[in-house]
Amino acid sequence: ADEPLVLGIETSCDETGVGIVRGHTLLADAVASSVDEHARFGGVVPEVASRAHLEAMVSTIERALREAGVAATDLDAVAVTAGPGLAGALLVGVSAAKAYAYALGKPLYGVNHLASHICVDQLEHGALPEPTMALLVSGGHSSLLLAPDITSDVRPLGSTIDDAAGEAFDKVARVLDLGFPGGPVIDKYAREGDPEAIAFPRGLTGPRDAPYDFSFSGLKTAVARWIEAKRNAGEEVPVRDVSASFQEAVTDVLTRKAVRACKDEGVDHLMIGGGVAANSRLRAMAEERCSAAGIRLRVPRPKLCTDNGAMVAALGAEMVARRRPTSGWDLPADSSLPV
Ligand code: KG4
Ligand code: ZN
Repeated sequence: ADEPLVLGIETSCDETGVGIVRGHTLLADAVASSVDEHARFGGVVPEVASRAHLEAMVSTIERALREAGVAATDLDAVAVTAGPGLAGALLVGVSAAKAYAYALGKPLYGVNHLASHICVDQLEHGALPEPTMALLVSGGHSSLLLAPDITSDVRPLGSTIDDAAGEAFDKVARVLDLGFPGGPVIDKYAREGDPEAIAFPRGLTGPRDAPYDFSFSGLKTAVARWIEAKRNAGEEVPVRDVSASFQEAVTDVLTRKAVRACKDEGVDHLMIGGGVAANSRLRAMAEERCSAAGIRLRVPRPKLCTDNGAMVAALGAEMVARRRPTSGWDLPADSSLPV
């Protein structure tokens, strides 16, 4: 095949990810996570993440190559997340990618983390139509992005003005004593709860509010106050109903704004990515609202939604295919890299 064979390295947060793709075909997706080491702190500790990346990097690269059954010398390029993310964590991946590409004599591509969260869907559903509309929701970001060209032109239409959606899940889980990360646990309890039990606020949904921006900190505070009032009254906190009602408020706002953006921009499909895209209610509600609006929904399987190396390789392969300029050996790790 003459489709590019690319290895991608992702270290922007707490997952050390190494993926290998050939064009739109996923060959390997090796991930080593340090999430357990952060759990007792209730959030990702940057220093701990960087050290864990250093320890896991070489073995994760070797595991990916074994899984893909390809020789490193056959690679067409090495791609790496250049930002945004935790500076020290990014630096480990960027340094490893440079060393690896240099030693192999292969071109290096620094890629944007958010763009690669979108591009990963090519491994699931084939070539993305352009322009692409994407809702990216994770622990670090919540944005609506319009991408006329996934390799070079990704435009933010709006984003959160305070907490990210995943961060809200994590904080509410903490108030409920459910552990970290909170998203998967809340998702699980919510299935047995009533989403209409408690009317929690929908941030920035008024007629004068920015149509594509998000705000979740008011919601988080409202949930915390509601729980506190129950506890002060000596009543039991209905964890399932709180989870379901909170989750309903988040997914209602996310899907409402995403569908509106598609309609306003005349885009007939919507891609949802990032860790929160694993949420079962978000997937179901997006499916309902998109189909009612005639919008085709594209959501990768949960493992490709959370941080991984395959998404970096997917975008790297697209850059090779479109003959985009390679990065120099002085490629910086940029913690606030814009899309
Ligand atoms: O994309 P990701 O793995 O890392 C970041 O770049 O942040 O996303 C992690 C976030 C966490 O906040 C986690 O609680 C959330 O995604 N998450 C979920 C679910 N699974 C993970 N949130 C809601 N429902 C889920 N099922
Ligand atoms: Zn991410």
